[in-house]
Amino acid sequence: MRAAVVRAFGEPPRFEEFPDPVASGPDEVVVDVVASALAPRVRSQAAGSHYTSTDALPLVPGLDGVGRAPDGSLRYFLLPDTDRGALAERTVVDLRRSVALPDDADPVAIAAAANPAMSSWVALRRRIPFAAGQSVLVLGATGNAGRLAVAVARRLGAGRIVAAGRGPERMADLDADEVVALDGDALARAGADVDVVLDYLWGEPTAAALRAIVPARADDAQPLTWVQIGSVAGLESPIPSAALRAVPLQLVGSGQGSVPTRVIRDELGELALEIARGAFPVPTRTVSLSDVERAWTAPPSRERVVFLP
Ligand SMILES: NC(=O)c1ccc[n+]([C@@H]2O[C@H](COP(=O)([O-])OP(=O)(O)OC[C@H]3O[C@@H](n4cnc5c(N)ncnc54)[C@H](OP(=O)(O)O)[C@@H]3O)[C@@H](O)[C@H]2O)c1
Repeated sequence: MRAAVVRAFGEPPRFEEFPDPVASGPDEVVVDVVASALAPRVRSQAAGSHYTSTDALPLVPGLDGVGRAPDGSLRYFLLPDTDRGALAERTVVDLRRSVALPDDADPVAIAAAANPAMSSWVALRRRIPFAAGQSVLVLGATGNAGRLAVAVARRLGAGRIVAAGRGPERMADLDADEVVALDGDALARAGADVDVVLDYLWGEPTAAALRAIVPARADDAQPLTWVQIGSVAGLESPIPSAALRAVPLQLVGSGQGSVPTRVIRDELGELALEIARGAFPVPTRTVSLSDVERAWTAPPSRERVVFLP
């Protein structure tokens, strides 16, 4: 078969011949990949820099996707940590980590939205005790995951929703109650009484947001749950120590590991149905997998690239 193959970290994958995958366990099947997206997580997997990465090469990246199983069903699948990923004509899927999709589901929409939507869906449903009516601030709401976090929070019954990010004009179409720039005064006002922050930024912007929001809390006793999800602005952040003392601040992370795989797996079905009914749309650009090298090095775009083998 042909696949996107990484032979050296730091170089884009190349479209080339690769040995066919072989199913080994009773729950495994080989699927024909229909669509698989280029999420930031796939880039870090291909670069060998994700926290789950091993140094195994050659590597076929690709975290998840939609495939056609041998029984003809269309399935969304989430792969385990593997060097035989989804950016290929075929891949091995563990049926326990996949869900059958409605016949009329759009494979591209599911492949594009599953990973970014899952980030907030799992955080709010399974990582923290979120209750309908609570207010949510999405820190970094310009990217795909941050934008969907606003829609997910709304779908899960959030009260007030604040979208914060650089370039507020790009968040004007979001279903948020308030849109603010990454500006200390604006964040202080908007964050004075939020219950939950979904943080896609980290780095200096997170430290700056804490420095703005914590002293502005209307009620010092109100719990503030800060969920670390993404780190587009920095892998490390100089968190002010006083923030942890001044208010009941809970700093937790949500992702692969802090949320057990079986929990993520349990959420796949419902989330896939929500995406299939159009609840969490993502702007997409479909690209033939044979063009993987060019797509990999293309300038960043708001559109999520979805590869079609
Ligand atoms: N933990 C999980 O379960 C999970 C799941 C999915 C994603 N994630 C993580 O979430 C993050 C976002 O993923 P994504 O799919 O939304 O990526 P994306 O679609 O590529 O969006 C990234 C966004 O980050 C913004 N950005 C980059 N640097 C920034 C900075 N210094 N300050 C403010 N904004 C900045 C970009 O804004 P501009 O448009 O202004 O450049 C862009 O809109 C990634 O770190 C990803 O790994 C985590």
